Amino acid sequence: MATAGKPIICRAAVLWEKSQPYSLENVEVAVPKKGEVRIKIVSSGICHSDVHFQDGMMDNFVFPAVLGHEGAGIIESIGEGVTRCKEGDLVVLAFESYCEECDFCKNPNCNMCMKQPRNNLQMDGTSRITCKGKSLTQMFSISTFSEYTVVSQFNVAKVNPKANLSSLCLVGCCLPTGYGAAINAGKVTPGSSCAIWGLGGVGMCVVMGCRDAGASKIIGIDLNPKKYELAKELGATDFINPKEVPNVPEALAKMTNGGVDFCFVSVGILSVMNEAFKASHPHWGKTVIIGMGDMGAAVKAGVLDLLFGRQLMGTFYGSYKAVRDIPQLVDKIVNGNIQVEKLITHRLTLDKINEGFKMLKSGESLRTVIDFNKKE
Ligand SMILES: NC(=O)c1ccc[n+]([C@@H]2O[C@H](COP(=O)([O-])OP(=O)(O)OC[C@H]3O[C@@H](n4cnc5c(N)ncnc54)[C@H](O)[C@@H]3O)[C@@H](O)[C@H]2O)c1
Ligand SMILES: [Zn+2]
Ligand SMILES: [Zn+2]
Repeated sequence: MATAGKPIICRAAVLWEKSQPYSLENVEVAVPKKGEVRIKIVSSGICHSDVHFQDGMMDNFVFPAVLGHEGAGIIESIGEGVTRCKEGDLVVLAFESYCEECDFCKNPNCNMCMKQPRNNLQMDGTSRITCKGKSLTQMFSISTFSEYTVVSQFNVAKVNPKANLSSLCLVGCCLPTGYGAAINAGKVTPGSSCAIWGLGGVGMCVVMGCRDAGASKIIGIDLNPKKYELAKELGATDFINPKEVPNVPEALAKMTNGGVDFCFVSVGILSVMNEAFKASHPHWGKTVIIGMGDMGAAVKAGVLDLLFGRQLMGTFYGSYKAVRDIPQLVDKIVNGNIQVEKLITHRLTLDKINEGFKMLKSGESLRTVIDFNKKE
């Protein structure tokens, strides 16, 4: 492309400080270095993890920054030595790298990579996005709230070119996270009972995962009854509104003959995580934590509970090796087996991003997609 080999000036939503609104700026996106690719972002979803980062949940996260970690786009240009993709390829950005070579990547039970920088910069310790002379931190080393970004080739999954780019971003976070929580982490079994706290974008994907695993009872738990209709359409069979039920674990025990087989927590609230563990069956119930929140907090799991059979675990990225597994999830969408489009309630231009976050927090929206091709 004509832009290759030169820095690109483009629009991005910049967070200058924590807890501040996004500010639309012209940023400079550098030429990709060795092993890196520059991507023209086409769609980027608004996930609750962006809210947590904006609120300063991560102690070591440095502002100013460009957030966004659920994105898809087209390779604009590649740096030296890039072998996994080429200019023009359709890609989903992954917020965990997959180098295939490190001990973590080689371990089938782990979906993290030793090469993923934990400082939200590129692998050489610098950022590729600058604004007004300042280097901007790249959330999870990707940054998708920008018209262009540069990432390592180890953070991109080349996908089926038949995929609909304008909703493909959901495969960057919410789909693998929620669907994989049920399929890979929980390993939901046919005929089982499942309960999902938090029916947001991630929780809806847990519902679909439980459905596809053959669960017979899928109980959605959310304070906001507006979420029930879609959850039902995607496979949920029963609902609980904690505002109306004084003791949720007790109610669940009655609905399931003594406790839920698989509990999923897709909301970042510690008290809800403890509640889910209590609601799991005392002798085989498994609780899977997905929500991020107070990262220093500890979920309470009694020793006797564990000895007698309750299980507690967490999952990052739905326990998928994302770069490796995302192409198959995209194929499932292209073949009509997973319905991500249904999760998208709003499409906005980048300059309306603050409105998008307002709607997520108020519960008005489910997934809002920043659509970079949308015109005012
Ligand atoms: N583990 C991972 O890899 C990973 C990846 C992505 C997102 N997440 C986390 O998953 C969580 C969900 O993300 P999302 O984008 O779906 O959020 P969301 O805001 O779309 O959904 C959260 C839902 O929880 C509901 N809720 C709030 N308080 C509740 C309560 N006390 N009881 C029951 N329901 C309640 C809300 O009404 C809403 O429907 C976030 O904490 C996010 O950071 C984790
Ligand atoms: Zn996310
Ligand atoms: Zn690796």
